[in-house]
Amino acid sequence: MKMFKRSTKISAVALMICAFMFSANSFAQKTVKIEGHDNMKFSVEKITAKPGEKITVELTTKSKLPAVAMSHNFVLLDQGVDARDFAMAGSKHKDHDYIDPAKEDEVIAHTDMASGGETVKVTFTAPKKSGDYEYICTFPGHFVSGMKGTLTVQ
Ligand code: CU
Repeated sequence: MKMFKRSTKISAVALMICAFMFSANSFAQKTVKIEGHDNMKFSVEKITAKPGEKITVELTTKSKLPAVAMSHNFVLLDQGVDARDFAMAGSKHKDHDYIDPAKEDEVIAHTDMASGGETVKVTFTAPKKSGDYEYICTFPGHFVSGMKGTLTVQ
């Protein structure tokens, strides 16, 4: 009888530990801090994530230039999207953060534009399908200057 009581206690503790680990895991959040500089490059060009993982991207623009000359955003594109076409189409949509409204379904997640000293963020769920996903800055001229990176889901 004594033995039985003891093992019940142990399994209750084990259950609590499991519950705690499970809840800690579901609240675990990956935050990726990226800086955008005047050289028109992201300071982080590779991000990895597990399928369905929750990620927050924080983008800070480090620049002394005015917003009209130097702003950055983070735009994660779906697989198979031509990033060059996407950036070109977006350049005509200044009032829409340089994202073509007609192409919004090609975007998995994006931040607002951040000018010098500003930080913008977006939280999203990594795609379920593993593979590479391209992210770009849609400020005119930045993608062609190499302002891009890859999110690898694996
Ligand atoms: Cu940019």
